Amino acid sequence: MKPCTLIIFGATGDLSKKKLLPALYHLNIENRLTDDTKIICMGRQEMEQNDWKSRVSEYVSEKARDGVDSGALDNFLAKISYFKNDINDAESYQDLKAKLDDPSNEFSDNIVFYLSISPSLFGVVGDNLAAVGLNKEDKGWRHLVVEKPFGYDQKSAAELEAVLSRNFTEKQTYRIDHYLGKSTVQNIMVFRFANIFLEPLWNRNYIDHIQITHAEQQGVGGRAGYYDGSGAMRDMIQSHLLQVMTLIAMEPPADLNDESLRDEKVKVLKAIRPITEDMVDDHAFRGQYAAGEVAGQPQQGYLEEDDAPADSVTETYAAMKVYVDNWRWRDVPFYLRTGKCMPESKATIAIRFKKPPQELFKGTDIGNSHANWLTMGLQPDNTLRIELQAKKPGLEISAHTVSLETVEDEDKKHKLDAYEAMILNAMLGDRSLFLRADEVDLAWKAVDPIIKKWSKEQDFVHTYPAGTWGPEEQSKIFDSECHQWRNDV
Ligand code: BG6
Repeated sequence: MKPCTLIIFGATGDLSKKKLLPALYHLNIENRLTDDTKIICMGRQEMEQNDWKSRVSEYVSEKARDGVDSGALDNFLAKISYFKNDINDAESYQDLKAKLDDPSNEFSDNIVFYLSISPSLFGVVGDNLAAVGLNKEDKGWRHLVVEKPFGYDQKSAAELEAVLSRNFTEKQTYRIDHYLGKSTVQNIMVFRFANIFLEPLWNRNYIDHIQITHAEQQGVGGRAGYYDGSGAMRDMIQSHLLQVMTLIAMEPPADLNDESLRDEKVKVLKAIRPITEDMVDDHAFRGQYAAGEVAGQPQQGYLEEDDAPADSVTETYAAMKVYVDNWRWRDVPFYLRTGKCMPESKATIAIRFKKPPQELFKGTDIGNSHANWLTMGLQPDNTLRIELQAKKPGLEISAHTVSLETVEDEDKKHKLDAYEAMILNAMLGDRSLFLRADEVDLAWKAVDPIIKKWSKEQDFVHTYPAGTWGPEEQSKIFDSECHQWRNDV
């Protein structure tokens, strides 16, 4: 890897404390940051270098996988400096440029700008960087990493894109979806494309439907201020779950080049059957948690959370049915759901196969044959299970479900945080884990009619007691009576 300078805007914010700085510390331990790599942490406050370093030590110590190692910490802190920057002040960027240009500071000319700030500030940062020429790649490369949310609908995402592209090209822009940095999500591709036996079955002829679930026990906590303007459809489905879906549905890419991969994902998004506003009720469902109990602890309802408006109908649970109209998937429903205050925290994929064409065992004790399932656990554990029917031992012809299952050992590597992969790839210039503008646009296009319709319906939302799997009425999105959510993956 080439040395680079990583500049974090919003370094004193929550994401930086909880994710970015600990991820960088771990990358340094793994020798993924060269000796010459330097990290400039930018914030509004005045701060002494030593004060900042002792704060960073605290953030890192809280998250260090094997407890913090003082030698490793010193080595990491030596790469870090604090720089006071007022995002709106043009002069501050001249100071930054002077600091970077000063040969005695020995900053690498390759720069990653990481915008861990509100998207409403992307424009002003981009313009100010450009005003001092810091977007130009005359000497080294420049990569601009931007955090979600990328817009709140298709139109606002396009506007944000226009703002970014004033100063940075598509090749320079790295849009984060941290799900793509999870090694279990990356495993979907390996599982599909490194094994031959699945491919003949991986299509509409053999697959009945696919479920993608993201459930979390936590409520919105102190985030209601942000969350109320977003809701589960925007927060999870438009971004992370549609990305997981594209990895399940896409064709094998020509190679592992980032553009080849993104081309295939875009083809899936383009093939999504449009949901018009009059179809929304059959294709999407929303719910909001009421008071209940999660993991034995009382949980207040969403409306009681700090900063949640008393009459809010913002969904904390959302489900969506998606059809991908291409040769491989036509008429196979993909059911996506996500919820807060669920009984468990987990992310899973469950694929139900069709039944055999002849019910040979009908009338025997086996009865109607059960469908085969293939399930993948993405978190907390990386699991893979294939469920089959087998004869029970004994004189009678009767069957039961047996499963072939793998659980990857919980070694340190599986505890990698997605941000380690994201930051490393941004430094390496590999965009395969980042979203291209057309992907973002098409993902918004898929959910836009739903969020528009919901925003007009302000007088009612189904509720579910915290600690349950969402409102029962959601089954109306299922295509068939024999479809229902699998919660036991
Ligand atoms: C974030 C959402 O993008 O993803 C959060 O804004 C959500 O609301 C989180 O909790 C889930 O991510 P993970 O990695 O914990 O499944």
